[in-house]
Amino acid sequence: MRRSFIRSVAAVVVIALAAAAWLLLRGGPTSAQIARGAGVYAEHCATCHGTNLQGQPDWQFPLSNGRMPAPPHDETGHTWHHPDQILLRIVKEGIVSILPGYETDMPPYQDILSDDDIAAVLTFIKSRWPKREREYQEARTREGAIGAP
Ligand code: HEC
Repeated sequence: MRRSFIRSVAAVVVIALAAAAWLLLRGGPTSAQIARGAGVYAEHCATCHGTNLQGQPDWQFPLSNGRMPAPPHDETGHTWHHPDQILLRIVKEGIVSILPGYETDMPPYQDILSDDDIAAVLTFIKSRWPKREREYQEARTREGAIGAP
């Protein structure tokens, strides 16, 4: 009984180390980056996009002021349709930098967050996507595709 407990703890430790080594070797995001991004998200994004990335209710329908609600950042939204280039621009310079004159509640973050914080929050959001959405978004980024916001 006790031995099997120790064995399963050892197995968990080995798996965690292997996962960390794999992330490091493939040059992927580190858990430190994801944790930093989670902090930035909780402080700056969660009020609108939801603590669990679920977005605002009925996010596909305009609010009474004609603006759109905040979409989810999980796989039910369309954040993962956009390449990194577009996501960075939306967060940093705002949606108006892509659609001039567009009225939105989403503020630009260039004077609020550092580039590292913006990179970390996007890394955190991506870490929550299932494999299929992550791979799709990585392919869009490689193509440098311009997606409509
Ligand atoms: C005050 C509310 C609010 C806050 C805070 C906010 N957003 Fe948004 N965000 C929005 C709204 C509303 C939209 C939808 C834009 C539209 O169509 O008007 C949006 C859209 C986006 C999009 C584009 C999604 C897509 O699929 O096109 C990204 C990316 C995004 N937000 C990231 C963030 C990040 C990262 C943070 C935190 C650093 C953040 N937002 C904070 C309201 C907010």
